[in-house]
Amino acid sequence: MNIVGIESSCDETSVAVITENKIKSNLISSQEFHTNFGGVVPELSSRAHLQTILPLFKKALNKAEIGLKDINLICATAGPGLIGALLVGLNFAKGLSLSLKVPFVPVNHIEGHLFSGFLMPEKPEFPFLSLLVSGGHTLLLLVKSDTEIIKIGSTIDDAAGEAFDKVSKMLGLGYPGGQKIQEYAERNAEEIVKFPVAKLKSELDFSFSGLKTSVLRFIQENYNGEIPEKDKCLIADSFQKAAVKALTSNFIKALNNYKVKSISIAGGVAANKHLQSEMKMIADKSKIKLVVPELSFCGDNAAMIAYRGFRLFENRIIYPLDYNAFPKLKNNFQLP
Ligand SMILES: Nc1ncnc2c1ncn2[C@@H]1O[C@H](COP(=O)(O)OP(=O)(O)OP(=O)(O)O)[C@@H](O)[C@H]1O
Ligand SMILES: [Mg+2]
Repeated sequence: MNIVGIESSCDETSVAVITENKIKSNLISSQEFHTNFGGVVPELSSRAHLQTILPLFKKALNKAEIGLKDINLICATAGPGLIGALLVGLNFAKGLSLSLKVPFVPVNHIEGHLFSGFLMPEKPEFPFLSLLVSGGHTLLLLVKSDTEIIKIGSTIDDAAGEAFDKVSKMLGLGYPGGQKIQEYAERNAEEIVKFPVAKLKSELDFSFSGLKTSVLRFIQENYNGEIPEKDKCLIADSFQKAAVKALTSNFIKALNNYKVKSISIAGGVAANKHLQSEMKMIADKSKIKLVVPELSFCGDNAAMIAYRGFRLFENRIIYPLDYNAFPKLKNNFQLP
């Protein structure tokens, strides 16, 4: 079965062709030009998706060595994301589905991230506990089966990735900032500054706005203008340690509360090496399997959308062709 995945929720256009157990192609075209604006410009993003999607789709089919007639299922991100950007991929998929008379599955981008571990050779086992950390979401999810996903914690303000991006901006390291913060943190040789980790009433929820403000205060109080490179490394390392501590300390609490067979991390921030090594320590200590998606499956990609759509199709969940795009999710994790 050849499954086509299409992703266009933000600043990556991606098209993938997968089968039940093989990735035949997973092409990602990143809209680098947004770096000039310090963030994603929605209108420019939609236009770039429009220009890219058809040639990228043709390339993905070529790489997978299949033709239009070989496509059996078409899956596309329906939300959350930028509405104009989403509509490009979703309508492209609907058009294909209609003309090829092939079923169409709209996919929740966050569920795409959540199930990205299944693209790895070592797959998660149900029930599993996942820390989903991306540019727009920070969620602790208990996944009992393909269709039973329970939110047990989430951020009350900024997402983890957003906090990395904002601190990167404060340090003048540009956008997107996660990778830059990690690189600078790795070069730090100084004793770290202890930035605060929020303690909330609901012990599995997260908050990053206080941490972000304390980094800003530290910069305002200690530097008048340019921050020396060495100090940027120190601040990046101190921030990264505090942010990862906020994530892992809640994860440990959740792991004590729920009996699971495996654990996973997912989303763009799952690419963070410090987070990965802390999660590995937790997994080793609890003698539980940890699944970390490879780098190309952490950020936005269409292979995860194709895979998640396939699982929904397998569960006989059928969607009408007039299914809409949704910029926001219900309860922060479900498509309406
Ligand atoms: N090595 C890294 N360390 C920390 N953060 C990282 C790293 N690499 C990428 N990120 C962060 O991951 C985020 C992008 O992830 P992703 O593409 O999943 O988010 P998104 O699609 O914009 O948001 P969402 O998935 O919530 O809709 C950015 O905030 C980026 O800074
Ligand atoms: Mg994403």
